[in-house]
Amino acid sequence: MSATRVGFLHSLIRKEEKLLLTEFSSRPNVEMVLLDDRRLTFDLGRGPDVDVVVERSINHSRALHALRLFQSLGIPCVNRYQVSLTCGDKILTAVALRDHGVPQPDLRIAFTEESALGAIEDLGYPVVLKPAVGSWGRLLSKINDRDAAETVLEHKTVLGSYHHSIFFIQKYVAKKGRDIRAFVVGDECIAAIYRSSDHWITNTARGATASNCPVTPELAEVCLAAAKAVGGGVVAIDLFESDDGLLVNEVNYTMEFRNSIDTTGVNIPDKVIGYVLDQAKARA
Ligand SMILES: Nc1ncnc2c1ncn2[C@@H]1O[C@H](COP(=O)(O)OP(=O)(O)O)[C@@H](O)[C@H]1O
Ligand SMILES: [Mg+2]
Repeated sequence: MSATRVGFLHSLIRKEEKLLLTEFSSRPNVEMVLLDDRRLTFDLGRGPDVDVVVERSINHSRALHALRLFQSLGIPCVNRYQVSLTCGDKILTAVALRDHGVPQPDLRIAFTEESALGAIEDLGYPVVLKPAVGSWGRLLSKINDRDAAETVLEHKTVLGSYHHSIFFIQKYVAKKGRDIRAFVVGDECIAAIYRSSDHWITNTARGATASNCPVTPELAEVCLAAAKAVGGGVVAIDLFESDDGLLVNEVNYTMEFRNSIDTTGVNIPDKVIGYVLDQAKARA
Protein backbone atom coordinates (compact mmCIF):
# COMPACT_ATOMS: atom_id res chain seq x y z
CA MET A 1 0.00 0.00 0.00
CA SER A 2 1.45 3.38 -0.93
CA ALA A 3 1.79 6.03 1.77
CA THR A 4 -0.85 8.71 2.27
CA ARG A 5 0.70 12.06 1.36
CA VAL A 6 -0.48 14.84 3.67
CA GLY A 7 0.14 18.44 2.63
CA PHE A 8 0.63 20.64 5.71
CA LEU A 9 -0.05 24.28 4.90
CA HIS A 10 1.57 26.52 7.49
CA SER A 11 3.39 29.76 8.16
CA LEU A 12 5.11 29.62 11.54
CA ILE A 13 5.29 26.28 13.28
CA ARG A 14 3.59 27.03 16.58
CA LYS A 15 2.80 24.66 19.42
CA GLU A 16 -0.35 23.32 17.68
CA GLU A 17 1.53 22.61 14.45
CA LYS A 18 4.28 20.81 16.40
CA LEU A 19 1.70 18.67 18.18
CA LEU A 20 0.00 17.79 14.90
CA LEU A 21 3.28 16.99 13.13
CA THR A 22 4.42 14.78 16.02
CA GLU A 23 1.11 12.94 15.92
CA PHE A 24 1.31 12.50 12.12
CA SER A 25 4.85 11.11 12.44
CA SER A 26 3.59 8.39 14.80
CA ARG A 27 1.17 7.09 12.15
CA PRO A 28 2.33 4.31 9.83
CA ASN A 29 2.24 4.90 6.10
CA VAL A 30 1.89 8.68 6.26
CA GLU A 31 4.25 11.01 4.43
CA MET A 32 4.23 14.71 5.32
CA VAL A 33 4.67 17.37 2.66
CA LEU A 34 5.34 20.72 4.33
CA LEU A 35 3.75 23.60 2.42
CA ASP A 36 5.12 26.91 3.76
CA ASP A 37 2.76 29.69 2.69
CA ARG A 38 5.70 32.13 2.61
CA ARG A 39 7.39 30.09 -0.13
CA LEU A 40 4.55 28.56 -2.11
CA THR A 41 3.75 29.71 -5.58
CA PHE A 42 0.70 28.53 -7.45
CA ASP A 43 0.28 27.65 -11.05
CA LEU A 44 -3.39 27.28 -11.91
CA GLY A 45 -4.08 23.70 -12.88
CA ARG A 46 -1.02 22.25 -11.17
CA GLY A 47 -0.30 21.62 -7.51
CA PRO A 48 1.56 19.50 -4.99
CA ASP A 49 1.26 15.74 -5.23
CA VAL A 50 -0.73 15.18 -2.05
CA ASP A 51 -3.84 13.22 -1.06
CA VAL A 52 -5.15 15.78 1.42
CA VAL A 53 -4.23 19.25 2.72
CA VAL A 54 -4.33 20.33 6.36
CA GLU A 55 -4.59 24.12 6.66
CA ARG A 56 -2.65 25.62 9.61
CA SER A 57 -1.78 29.06 8.25
CA ILE A 58 -1.96 32.05 10.61
CA ASN A 59 -3.00 34.39 7.82
CA HIS A 60 -6.70 34.27 6.97
CA SER A 61 -6.32 35.63 3.42
CA ARG A 62 -3.53 33.25 2.52
CA ALA A 63 -5.40 30.29 4.01
CA LEU A 64 -8.53 31.16 2.11
CA HIS A 65 -6.93 31.57 -1.28
CA ALA A 66 -4.65 28.57 -0.90
CA LEU A 67 -7.63 26.38 0.03
CA ARG A 68 -9.55 27.60 -3.01
CA LEU A 69 -6.57 26.80 -5.24
CA PHE A 70 -6.00 23.34 -3.74
CA GLN A 71 -9.68 22.50 -4.00
CA SER A 72 -9.73 23.51 -7.65
CA LEU A 73 -7.30 20.65 -8.19
CA GLY A 74 -9.61 18.19 -6.47
CA ILE A 75 -7.52 17.92 -3.30
CA PRO A 76 -9.64 17.42 -0.16
CA CYS A 77 -8.87 20.11 2.43
CA VAL A 78 -9.31 20.33 6.20
CA ASN A 79 -10.99 22.68 6.48
CA ARG A 80 -12.76 23.27 3.23
CA TYR A 81 -12.60 26.67 1.54
CA GLN A 82 -16.26 27.45 2.15
CA VAL A 83 -15.92 26.63 5.86
CA SER A 84 -12.90 28.93 6.18
CA LEU A 85 -14.68 31.67 4.27
CA THR A 86 -17.68 31.51 6.58
CA CYS A 87 -15.80 31.11 9.86
CA GLY A 88 -13.23 33.78 9.01
CA ASP A 89 -15.95 36.42 8.86
CA LYS A 90 -18.24 36.96 11.85
CA ILE A 91 -21.02 38.32 9.63
CA LEU A 92 -21.02 35.27 7.36
CA THR A 93 -20.93 33.05 10.44
CA ALA A 94 -23.91 34.86 11.97
CA VAL A 95 -25.89 34.40 8.75
CA ALA A 96 -25.05 30.68 8.59
CA LEU A 97 -26.04 30.18 12.24
CA ARG A 98 -29.28 32.03 11.66
CA ASP A 99 -30.06 30.00 8.49
CA HIS A 100 -29.66 26.82 10.53
CA GLY A 101 -31.60 28.00 13.58
CA VAL A 102 -28.57 27.96 15.89
CA PRO A 103 -28.99 30.30 18.90
CA GLN A 104 -26.64 33.31 19.04
CA PRO A 105 -26.52 36.70 20.77
CA ASP A 106 -28.72 39.46 19.32
CA LEU A 107 -26.77 41.41 16.75
CA ARG A 108 -26.88 44.16 14.17
CA ILE A 109 -24.73 44.98 11.16
CA ALA A 110 -24.30 48.52 9.83
CA PHE A 111 -22.07 50.23 7.28
CA THR A 112 -21.89 53.85 8.45
CA GLU A 113 -21.19 55.67 11.69
CA GLU A 114 -24.75 57.06 11.83
CA SER A 115 -26.56 53.81 11.10
CA ALA A 116 -24.28 51.96 13.54
CA LEU A 117 -25.21 54.40 16.30
CA GLY A 118 -28.88 53.84 15.54
CA ALA A 119 -28.37 50.06 15.62
CA ILE A 120 -26.57 50.25 18.96
CA GLU A 121 -29.33 52.36 20.50
CA ASP A 122 -31.86 49.89 19.12
CA LEU A 123 -30.05 46.88 20.64
CA GLY A 124 -29.61 48.60 24.01
CA TYR A 125 -26.48 48.92 26.14
CA PRO A 126 -24.08 47.34 26.74
CA VAL A 127 -23.04 46.14 23.30
CA VAL A 128 -19.83 44.70 21.88
CA LEU A 129 -18.44 46.14 18.66
CA LYS A 130 -15.98 43.87 16.89
CA PRO A 131 -14.18 43.58 13.58
CA ALA A 132 -15.93 41.14 11.23
CA VAL A 133 -12.53 39.59 10.50
CA GLY A 134 -10.20 39.16 13.47
CA SER A 135 -9.19 36.95 16.35
CA TRP A 136 -7.45 36.65 19.72
CA GLY A 137 -9.84 39.20 21.20
CA ARG A 138 -8.24 42.11 19.33
CA LEU A 139 -9.99 45.43 18.68
CA LEU A 140 -13.13 44.49 20.59
CA SER A 141 -15.00 47.32 22.30
CA LYS A 142 -17.57 46.93 25.05
CA ILE A 143 -19.76 50.00 24.80
CA ASN A 144 -21.76 50.88 27.89
CA ASP A 145 -23.45 54.14 26.90
CA ARG A 146 -24.13 56.60 24.09
CA ASP A 147 -21.08 58.75 24.87
CA ALA A 148 -18.79 55.75 24.45
CA ALA A 149 -20.65 54.64 21.31
CA GLU A 150 -20.18 58.02 19.63
CA THR A 151 -16.48 58.11 20.56
CA VAL A 152 -15.64 54.59 19.39
CA LEU A 153 -17.59 55.00 16.14
CA GLU A 154 -15.90 58.31 15.39
CA HIS A 155 -12.45 56.83 16.08
CA LYS A 156 -13.15 53.88 13.81
CA THR A 157 -14.45 56.11 11.05
CA VAL A 158 -11.61 58.64 11.18
CA LEU A 159 -8.69 56.37 12.04
CA GLY A 160 -9.83 52.98 10.79
CA SER A 161 -9.10 51.21 7.57
CA TYR A 162 -11.56 49.76 5.07
CA HIS A 163 -12.47 47.00 7.56
CA HIS A 164 -13.80 49.60 9.98
CA SER A 165 -16.55 50.66 7.65
CA ILE A 166 -18.41 47.47 8.50
CA PHE A 167 -19.80 47.48 12.02
CA PHE A 168 -20.59 44.15 13.66
CA ILE A 169 -22.51 44.86 16.82
CA GLN A 170 -23.57 42.24 19.36
CA LYS A 171 -25.60 42.54 22.51
CA TYR A 172 -23.26 42.09 25.48
CA VAL A 173 -23.99 38.77 27.20
CA ALA A 174 -23.49 38.83 31.00
CA LYS A 175 -21.54 35.62 31.15
CA LYS A 176 -20.40 35.37 34.78
CA GLY A 177 -16.67 35.36 34.28
CA ARG A 178 -16.33 32.65 31.67
CA ASP A 179 -17.25 31.33 28.25
CA ILE A 180 -16.99 27.88 26.69
CA ARG A 181 -14.67 26.76 23.92
CA ALA A 182 -15.78 23.41 22.44
CA PHE A 183 -14.00 21.30 19.84
CA VAL A 184 -15.83 19.52 17.05
CA VAL A 185 -14.18 16.98 14.78
CA GLY A 186 -16.47 15.62 12.08
CA ASP A 187 -19.69 14.61 13.75
CA GLU A 188 -18.36 14.49 17.31
CA CYS A 189 -17.97 17.17 19.97
CA ILE A 190 -14.73 15.74 21.39
CA ALA A 191 -13.97 18.09 24.30
CA ALA A 192 -14.63 21.52 25.79
CA ILE A 193 -13.03 23.97 28.19
CA TYR A 194 -14.26 26.86 30.28
CA ARG A 195 -12.21 30.02 29.78
CA SER A 196 -12.38 32.11 32.94
CA SER A 197 -11.15 35.63 33.46
CA ASP A 198 -11.74 38.73 35.58
CA HIS A 199 -11.76 40.60 32.25
CA TRP A 200 -14.86 40.47 30.04
CA ILE A 201 -12.65 39.21 27.18
CA THR A 202 -11.96 35.56 27.93
CA ASN A 203 -9.54 34.50 25.17
CA THR A 204 -6.69 32.41 26.60
CA ALA A 205 -4.42 34.52 24.35
CA ARG A 206 -5.51 37.39 26.65
CA GLY A 207 -4.73 35.58 29.89
CA ALA A 208 -7.93 33.65 30.67
CA THR A 209 -7.44 30.32 32.44
CA ALA A 210 -8.68 27.03 31.02
CA SER A 211 -10.52 24.31 32.94
CA ASN A 212 -12.38 21.22 31.80
CA CYS A 213 -16.01 21.66 30.74
CA PRO A 214 -18.07 18.47 30.58
CA VAL A 215 -19.56 17.82 27.15
CA THR A 216 -23.23 17.52 28.09
CA PRO A 217 -25.79 16.34 25.51
CA GLU A 218 -27.08 19.94 25.35
CA LEU A 219 -23.61 21.34 24.63
CA ALA A 220 -22.87 18.64 22.05
CA GLU A 221 -26.16 19.28 20.29
CA VAL A 222 -25.62 23.05 19.93
CA CYS A 223 -22.00 22.57 18.87
CA LEU A 224 -22.78 19.97 16.22
CA ALA A 225 -25.54 22.20 14.87
CA ALA A 226 -23.10 25.16 14.73
CA ALA A 227 -20.43 23.05 13.02
CA LYS A 228 -22.98 21.81 10.50
CA ALA A 229 -24.20 25.37 9.88
CA VAL A 230 -20.73 26.50 8.74
CA GLY A 231 -20.10 23.37 6.68
CA GLY A 232 -18.47 20.98 9.17
CA GLY A 233 -14.91 19.73 9.56
CA VAL A 234 -12.54 20.53 12.41
CA VAL A 235 -13.77 23.60 14.26
CA ALA A 236 -13.69 25.24 17.67
CA ILE A 237 -16.87 26.86 18.88
CA ASP A 238 -17.13 29.74 21.36
CA LEU A 239 -20.32 29.77 23.42
CA PHE A 240 -21.89 31.86 26.15
CA GLU A 241 -24.03 30.49 28.97
CA SER A 242 -26.96 32.89 29.12
CA ASP A 243 -30.32 33.02 30.88
CA ASP A 244 -31.79 31.81 27.57
CA GLY A 245 -29.44 28.81 27.36
CA LEU A 246 -26.30 28.35 25.29
CA LEU A 247 -25.56 30.96 22.63
CA VAL A 248 -22.94 30.45 19.90
CA ASN A 249 -20.62 33.44 19.67
CA GLU A 250 -18.30 32.33 16.89
CA VAL A 251 -16.77 29.36 15.10
CA ASN A 252 -13.00 29.14 14.54
CA TYR A 253 -11.61 27.19 11.62
CA THR A 254 -7.84 27.00 12.29
CA MET A 255 -8.37 26.04 15.86
CA GLU A 256 -5.90 26.48 18.68
CA PHE A 257 -5.90 23.75 21.30
CA ARG A 258 -2.58 23.89 23.17
CA ASN A 259 -4.32 24.67 26.49
CA SER A 260 -6.95 22.03 26.06
CA ILE A 261 -5.22 18.64 25.81
CA ASP A 262 -4.05 18.29 29.42
CA THR A 263 -7.08 20.24 30.66
CA THR A 264 -9.59 17.87 29.08
CA GLY A 265 -7.54 14.66 28.97
CA VAL A 266 -8.53 14.29 25.30
CA ASN A 267 -5.83 13.69 22.69
CA ILE A 268 -7.07 16.38 20.31
CA PRO A 269 -4.30 15.96 17.69
CA ASP A 270 -5.07 12.23 17.49
CA LYS A 271 -8.74 12.97 16.74
CA VAL A 272 -7.87 15.65 14.15
CA ILE A 273 -5.44 13.38 12.35
CA GLY A 274 -7.91 10.50 12.30
CA TYR A 275 -10.34 12.84 10.56
CA VAL A 276 -7.75 14.13 8.08
CA LEU A 277 -6.70 10.61 7.08
CA ASP A 278 -10.36 9.65 6.64
CA GLN A 279 -10.75 12.54 4.16
CA ALA A 280 -7.76 11.27 2.17
CA LYS A 281 -9.20 7.75 2.22
CA ALA A 282 -12.61 8.95 1.08
CA ARG A 283 -10.96 10.46 -1.98
CA ALA A 284 -8.92 7.35 -2.88
N1 LIG B 1 -21.36 39.75 22.91
C1 LIG B 1 -20.49 39.45 23.87
N2 LIG B 1 -20.85 39.40 25.17
C2 LIG B 1 -19.97 39.09 26.13
N3 LIG B 1 -18.68 38.82 25.91
C3 LIG B 1 -18.22 38.84 24.63
C4 LIG B 1 -19.12 39.16 23.55
N4 LIG B 1 -18.41 39.10 22.40
C5 LIG B 1 -17.16 38.75 22.74
N5 LIG B 1 -17.02 38.60 24.08
C6 LIG B 1 -15.80 38.21 24.80
O1 LIG B 1 -14.69 38.49 23.98
C7 LIG B 1 -14.03 37.27 23.58
C8 LIG B 1 -13.56 37.37 22.14
O2 LIG B 1 -14.67 37.57 21.28
P1 LIG B 1 -14.82 36.79 19.92
O3 LIG B 1 -16.09 37.23 19.31
O4 LIG B 1 -14.65 35.33 20.16
O5 LIG B 1 -13.62 37.37 19.05
P2 LIG B 1 -12.19 36.73 18.65
O6 LIG B 1 -12.39 36.23 17.26
O7 LIG B 1 -11.24 37.86 18.73
O8 LIG B 1 -11.90 35.61 19.61
C9 LIG B 1 -15.06 36.17 23.82
O9 LIG B 1 -14.45 34.93 24.05
C10 LIG B 1 -15.79 36.71 25.04
O10 LIG B 1 -15.07 36.47 26.23
MG1 LIG C 1 -13.15 33.87 19.91
